[in-house]
Amino acid sequence: MKYFKKLVGEKCYLSPINLEDAPQYSEWLSNIDIGLSLEIFHTQLSVRKEEQILQNMIDRNEYIFAIVDLTTNTLIGNCGLHNVHHINGLAEFGIFLGNEEYRGKGYAKEATNLILDFGFNILNLHAIHLRVYEFNKRAHKLYESVGFKKTGLFRQAKAIGKKRYDVLIMDILADEYQGVYVRDKIDTMT
Ligand SMILES: CC(C)(COP(=O)(O)OP(=O)(O)OC[C@H]1O[C@@H](n2cnc3c(N)ncnc32)[C@H](O)[C@@H]1OP(=O)(O)O)[C@@H](O)C(=O)NCCC(=O)NCCS
Repeated sequence: MKYFKKLVGEKCYLSPINLEDAPQYSEWLSNIDIGLSLEIFHTQLSVRKEEQILQNMIDRNEYIFAIVDLTTNTLIGNCGLHNVHHINGLAEFGIFLGNEEYRGKGYAKEATNLILDFGFNILNLHAIHLRVYEFNKRAHKLYESVGFKKTGLFRQAKAIGKKRYDVLIMDILADEYQGVYVRDKIDTMT
């Protein structure tokens, strides 16, 4: 069994990542459309390097999940909470859908909701923040649709060739999040 249904939605579930998927992640992250959105394209992402990155994330107890199609168990992408700070209750969110067939169909939205629910209702975080490049309109739309708010920006902080772009900062607080998945489970236990 490659994936485990740790956080289950209606169309996808989040599983602990699997090191065997390193070749697939290397392929996806070497795609220029994905790589340039994630500050990763400058890295030479061999399978070995990707395995090391994933292993480091596991060792650092980062909360990284494979996004998997609930019906077919197909790997769709990856999302996670990075730089978790338990004293301040903060973490940084990141996501990509490598499997293009699943874009624009609500899978990213559901995966984001699942991980916010995990962050707020299991890890008891106070806030989750993220950084997104100004040109990444699909990501803005996704983040706003689940309740992230724009709270600031780093001006001209992203360079691609001779052009510079602002990096937007967005966040969501625990009491702004309308969770449904984990919270429903908790409600049935009390
Ligand atoms: C950013 C990214 C994750 C967004 O993925 P996405 O597929 O656009 O997001 P969603 O799965 O939420 O799709 C939302 C779309 O599905 C549609 N949709 C269809 N059925 C839906 C459903 N049941 N629920 C919600 N949305 C649904 C929505 O109408 C929406 O389409 P629209 O934006 O044209 O109105 C994806 O583009 C990606 O991986 N990009 C490359 C990496 C990247 O940029 N990561 C973020 C870095 S900050």
